[in-house]
Order: sequence, then structure tokens, then C-alpha cells
Amino acid sequence: MSISVNLAALMRSSKDSNWGTPLDFFRKIDSIFNFNLDVCATADNAKTELYISPEQDSFSVPWTSRGVPMETVAWMNPPYGKGEKACWDTSKCKKKSCVKRGYHIYRDIPGIGNWIKYGINQVKICSTGILVMLLPARTDSKWFQDVWDNACLICFVRGRVTFVGAKDTAPFPSVVAVFAQGNLNDVIYEKMSSLGNVVDSRNSQIIVYGGKR
Ligand SMILES: C[S@@+](CC[C@H](N)C(=O)[O-])C[C@H]1O[C@@H](n2cnc3c(N)ncnc32)[C@H](O)[C@@H]1O
Repeated sequence: MSISVNLAALMRSSKDSNWGTPLDFFRKIDSIFNFNLDVCATADNAKTELYISPEQDSFSVPWTSRGVPMETVAWMNPPYGKGEKACWDTSKCKKKSCVKRGYHIYRDIPGIGNWIKYGINQVKICSTGILVMLLPARTDSKWFQDVWDNACLICFVRGRVTFVGAKDTAPFPSVVAVFAQGNLNDVIYEKMSSLGNVVDSRNSQIIVYGGKR
């Protein structure tokens, strides 16, 4: 199968998993956190002045906004695809995805689970101050367990998000998950409950903000 390897095209691809966050929805969350870094974006869809592009690669560059990781308040709406392994021997590669796209890939495409794991580690090991993720509420996914086990706040968004470029609302519900080095202020839990019910999982206990109490 003669399919060329084209990194530039790869960067532009994955349309399905690159839906942008609607601005009004982002602004509500930004008014609570005041983000200073968008960790996966392009010039066209970045939500903050400072962002990490596919060319820079979030998995290769430090997540710092002003050089101090602790001061980073990062926004992450990652590609939602399940990822793909690189085609090491392109002469033998018969992957349907390569045929469909018309070229092979020579580096792994991270899946949503890789993004989540990496993001959680950035907070744990590299001391990113706060990281907020917009994710599908796929509570049965393996990666959702990582979210549940590590987030200090999970907001189950009321209604469905209409992503930028989509004609209709998403066919799945969403969560906004917050990961932080230190403790979040109670006010943040209250404010986030305006978007949907909020699970507060600090101190190994679960408190629900916004729901019937
Ligand atoms: C779902 S979109 C989110 C865009 C924007 N941040 C927002 O919230 O509207 C995911 C973005 O991740 C970018 N992306 C994909 N792989 C990346 C990588 N390795 N490093 C940085 N950004 C990446 C894509 O180009 C795409 O723009």
C-alpha cells in the first residue's frame, strides 16, 4: 500500500475530535478560574493568549504560563479520540485508518485517556497549579476512573454543549473536571454549580453542590 507519511496533514486532521469549546460556555468557567494557558489549541481556537499548539506538542513542552508552574491555571479540552499507534513498518501497514486518511503516521496520536493521565501528572509532579478539563461524561470509560480518583471537583454539565463548528448539540453529556495542587476555595464549588451539579471529592468525602440536598 503506498501511503505517504505527512505530519503536517496529521496536525490538521482529526477533525472529529477537535471541536472547539463554545465561547460563552468557556467564559463562564474562565470567570471563575481566570485561565492563563490553553494546553491544546491552535491559533484559530485558542481560549487564552498563551497556548500550546500541536506543532509545539503538549506532551513535549512544559505547561507554564509565566515560567512558574504553580501559577499555571490551565484549560484543557483535549481531542476526544481513542488515539492511534504509529505505523512503524509502513510497507506492511494495513490499518484502515491509514487508507481512509491517505497517509501513515510516524508518531503515536494520543487518545483522550493519554491526555487525562498526562494532565493529572502535570498537576501532581510538575506542579501545574490548577488544570480544568472539559470531557465527555463517559462514566463507564477506563479513563473516567482516573478523573474520578484525582479530580477535586467534577461538574456534571446541565444540558448538552454545542461545540464550535457543530450544527447540533453534542450526542453525549459533558463534565468539567478540576485538578489542583492545593485546596480549592468553597466559593469555586458554589460558582461551578451554576453549570450543573458539582461533586466535591476533597478529603475523601463526597458533597454535592447544586443538587437537591
Ligand atoms: C477539542 S480542540 C480544543 C480547542 C480549544 N482549546 C478549545 O477549547 O476550544 C483540541 C485541540 O487540541 C489540539 N491538539 C491536538 N494534538 C495536540 C498536541 N499534541 N499538542 C497541543 N495541541 C494539540 C488540536 O489541534 C485541537 O485544536
